[in-house]
Amino acid sequence: MDPIVARNRTDLIKARGDGSVALVPTMGALHEGHRSLIRAARSRADHVVVSIFVNPLQFGPGEDFSRYPRTFEADLEVCRAEGVEVVFAPAAEDMYHPDRQVSLRSGEMGRVVEGAVRPGHFDGMLTVVLKLFNLVQPDLAVFGQKDAQQLALIRRMVADLDVPVEIVGAPTVREPDGLALSSRNRYLSPADREVALALSRALRAGAAESVPSRVIAAAREVLEAAAPELALDYVVLVDPATFAEVAEPYTGEAVLAVAGRVGTTRLIDNAVLSF
Ligand code: PAJ
Repeated sequence: MDPIVARNRTDLIKARGDGSVALVPTMGALHEGHRSLIRAARSRADHVVVSIFVNPLQFGPGEDFSRYPRTFEADLEVCRAEGVEVVFAPAAEDMYHPDRQVSLRSGEMGRVVEGAVRPGHFDGMLTVVLKLFNLVQPDLAVFGQKDAQQLALIRRMVADLDVPVEIVGAPTVREPDGLALSSRNRYLSPADREVALALSRALRAGAAESVPSRVIAAAREVLEAAAPELALDYVVLVDPATFAEVAEPYTGEAVLAVAGRVGTTRLIDNAVLSF
């Protein structure tokens, strides 16, 4: 059956059936990673809502908001193939009133690592995610580990603001050669794509070490060997819950997070390691 396309709150209320609802928030340009989230949602709830909204609030002035891929018809086809009941695709004017005043701020955790490179990004992300939760009113929502700091911040938002939505994390889907799927991969030329492989290769090199400082050194070595074609933004080992850098000696899980630019395309990746 074709998914119902809802454009606003009234449409959403009309589309609402009985039973539990799982939300998969996306910015569209759907790929196999998004599909895995849809399947995780499907297995946990009676109805799946996929939101497709390129959120202007989470893009900085010099970032790729205007050139972000918009492939609505193909996305609808993916949702149809996955048996999604409702696609929520609001217009920007309906999401953000020109006169709006109140929005979310992420705190220190949103200003480190990815937040240090993209000031304001996580504030805009949290604001739209909370709005989507309030509009769709899902029982649970699924997010990818690919955006580990985003997932950690959403968990914090839900805990700190008592948001009644269960947060489910889903593993990163990769190409056979290791490249993490991303809507931005379509901008990579074959040569860029080779360079981009350094990110996942660096994670594997880091994962082969057992002491935090060695993990970072091994990952950094791989990334620096890919310069200058790869412009490194960061390589860090952080606490999965706070995104604070871990100090040695360390026991427990840590996220090895890397980010860089290949040409004009910015890519991020991470792996969860145990110490
Ligand atoms: P977007 O980049 O479209 O990603 C939507 C969801 O898909 C996120 O939860 C992201 O972590 C997940 N995802 C992306 N690539 C993945 C991969 N290779 N494997 C598994 N999951 C993957 O993230 C956003 O949109 C936005 O910030 C959003 C949460 C929608 C708020 O605007």
